[in-house]
Amino acid sequence: MTKRVKPLIIGNWKMNPATLARAEKIVVDIQKGLKGRVGASEILIAPPLPFVSDLKELAGAQKIAFASQDVSFAESGAYTGEVGISMLRSVGIKMAIVGHSERREGGETDEMVKAKLDRVIGNKLTAIVCVGEKERDRFGDYFTTVESQLTTALTDVREEDLKHLVVAYEPVWAIGTGENATPEQAEEMRLFIQKILTDIYGRVGASEVKIIYGGSVHDDNAEDLLKVGHVDGFLIGGASLNAKEFVSIIKIADQYAKFA
Ligand code: PGA
Repeated sequence: MTKRVKPLIIGNWKMNPATLARAEKIVVDIQKGLKGRVGASEILIAPPLPFVSDLKELAGAQKIAFASQDVSFAESGAYTGEVGISMLRSVGIKMAIVGHSERREGGETDEMVKAKLDRVIGNKLTAIVCVGEKERDRFGDYFTTVESQLTTALTDVREEDLKHLVVAYEPVWAIGTGENATPEQAEEMRLFIQKILTDIYGRVGASEVKIIYGGSVHDDNAEDLLKVGHVDGFLIGGASLNAKEFVSIIKIADQYAKFA
């Protein structure tokens, strides 16, 4: 049975913008830019958490949903500064990013990422697990890095949980640098990730998982990354804070719904 796969476009705002008023302006401008669109893509924004409830009020018409940039591995308790998955769900958050390289840089290990992923999918929200190498060496060690990050994350994840999983290939060298992976590099890694998933879960199980790309996605490279890289969508940092550019990436992605 074939099914329609909608591109998944997630804006990761990181620790930006500085005020709620500026965050609201970005969402309002995105709404204006998308007005009248009958688009296929699923759109999410991962803003700083203090802004979520106010932004949700603004985001209705164009069906923008919200994601979290991180989540605690614990359910609740004495974890100062952490935010739990039940809290996120109670304010309408649908997805949580886990293992972003900026968190891994701060000391998060593959095992910690795995614990967070379990917490998210155990609560039936969707986990966007980020994997990616720090550098592209000429011996291909980047495959080993991605394989080990991904297989640790997938340990004990059951096939029926895969509908709650998205894999974001985010080569660290491409994040915020203006140097994106080429569409060919994105395609190669997408195939590699798909093979890992297929080896563990079979073709049907693996087809549940969207594989998206992140790292210097802009409106001038999005089309090739979709067309040649065949990725299922994007995790977008810098360009998602620019309403005009984010809207134009969404409109490009709208053309790339596919059948799997
Ligand atoms: P960038 O960030 O689009 O600014 O490179 C991507 C990310 O960190 O998810």
